[in-house]
Amino acid sequence: PRRVYVGAFAHCKSLEELDICDAGAIGVGESGRIEFIERDVDDISSVLEKQGWKGVKVVKIKDHGFFFPGFIDTHIHAPQYPNAGIFGKTTLIDWLDKYTFPMEASFSSLARARQVYNRIVNRTLSHGTTTAAYYATVHVPATNLLADICHAKHQRAFIGRVCMDTMSPPNYRDTSPEDAVAATRATIQHITSLDPSHSLLIPIITPRFAPSCTPACLSALGRLHKETNLPIQTHIAENHAELDLVRRTFPSHPSYTAVYDDHGLLGPRTVLAHAVHLSPAEVALIRARGAKVSHCPASNTALTSGAAKVRELLLEDITIGLGTDVSGGYSPSVLVAARHAVMVSRHVAMGSGEGEGDAAKLTEAEVLWLATRGGARALGLEERVGGFEVGMEWDAQMVVLGEGVGVDGEGGEAEGPVDVFGWESWEERIAKWLYNGDDRNTAAVWVKGELVHKTQAFSG
Ligand code: GUN
Ligand code: FE
Repeated sequence: PRRVYVGAFAHCKSLEELDICDAGAIGVGESGRIEFIERDVDDISSVLEKQGWKGVKVVKIKDHGFFFPGFIDTHIHAPQYPNAGIFGKTTLIDWLDKYTFPMEASFSSLARARQVYNRIVNRTLSHGTTTAAYYATVHVPATNLLADICHAKHQRAFIGRVCMDTMSPPNYRDTSPEDAVAATRATIQHITSLDPSHSLLIPIITPRFAPSCTPACLSALGRLHKETNLPIQTHIAENHAELDLVRRTFPSHPSYTAVYDDHGLLGPRTVLAHAVHLSPAEVALIRARGAKVSHCPASNTALTSGAAKVRELLLEDITIGLGTDVSGGYSPSVLVAARHAVMVSRHVAMGSGEGEGDAAKLTEAEVLWLATRGGARALGLEERVGGFEVGMEWDAQMVVLGEGVGVDGEGGEAEGPVDVFGWESWEERIAKWLYNGDDRNTAAVWVKGELVHKTQAFSG
């Protein structure tokens, strides 16, 4: 049904500019799209009358809350969720061997997959993630189950069946490039049967990363992309040992980025996670191909991979979104990833040459842009989600800072970790949410107009 969302809202206008409206009304039609946006609203009934929306239900926010676009997680490994927080002192390659491959291999069990995938989808929704780009495992039944669960819970999701025919344990890999492609096709077919127009569920071609794919496997996936024009996700330039591995396994290629490019895997629909250690030539190639980057700051710190130079990439006009990279990253929350993006940018600032420091720092507005608009652009969804504009889909979260909210203003108390005293500006409230907020502040979440999560702070 139609709904009108009344109260404060905020979204990112540009990388630098957070647009905040303290008395808005957003009308969402039956299609789940935004049909009108009114600002400076003091009398909602006259707005409803003017729009011809009299009698339509109003979802109202009280004093210290606001509507915000749903978060977009451009990089998350659903089967690694049980390992969130478990990484010790490992770095990428031994982390993969010690924790990641054994956990992922266990998804040959559908019971295991059901248990974990239900939890991670619930958990990301509760943190306001309305779109997630998931890596699953090599297992087709478990990958299809992840799609089923996202479909049932109405999360917008990219579902990637992981392809790898070398490096991982023999019991956890593709037996041939043909096997990788056939298995990927099987999941594409299943996802398409659930959502024929790919309006919420999108298959994504997923070579794990260059070292775990033979050249024949990379080429076969490049051809699959050419045939289907489906998006691609993979990892790039995360840590030094990985760079060495790529140099050894692909000695004739000029760079890591060139490996993907030479196999038909680098294009405008490619999302490259990490991008920590890229040469200027690689940055230029990524830019020339229009490929996108997923910045995973929590993971890059936890696995001591390095600090991605986000400002430099932004200045090169490369599109960047945020990734939680569970479980390289310990938290499934994009708000936490945004917070880490700020902190990592401070480390880049402290480590850079004289006079360059401040330029590296990301602002609150910028990391929130990465978490919403940037992610949407990285995944090719910028016309549909990531902000509040007429014609865009209502993928949104109701953020509450201290007060009860709900339909027609009814609702319980929100007990979040953010203390608002009442004198803060909206920018200050949003900064307090960014640094101290958690899922208790996310009272309700919608995807394409449909309520997909709520706490007791929200009624209706
Ligand atoms: N590189 C290859 N596989 C992975 C993975 O699962 N996580 C991370 N962070 N990097 C990878
Ligand atoms: Fe990853």
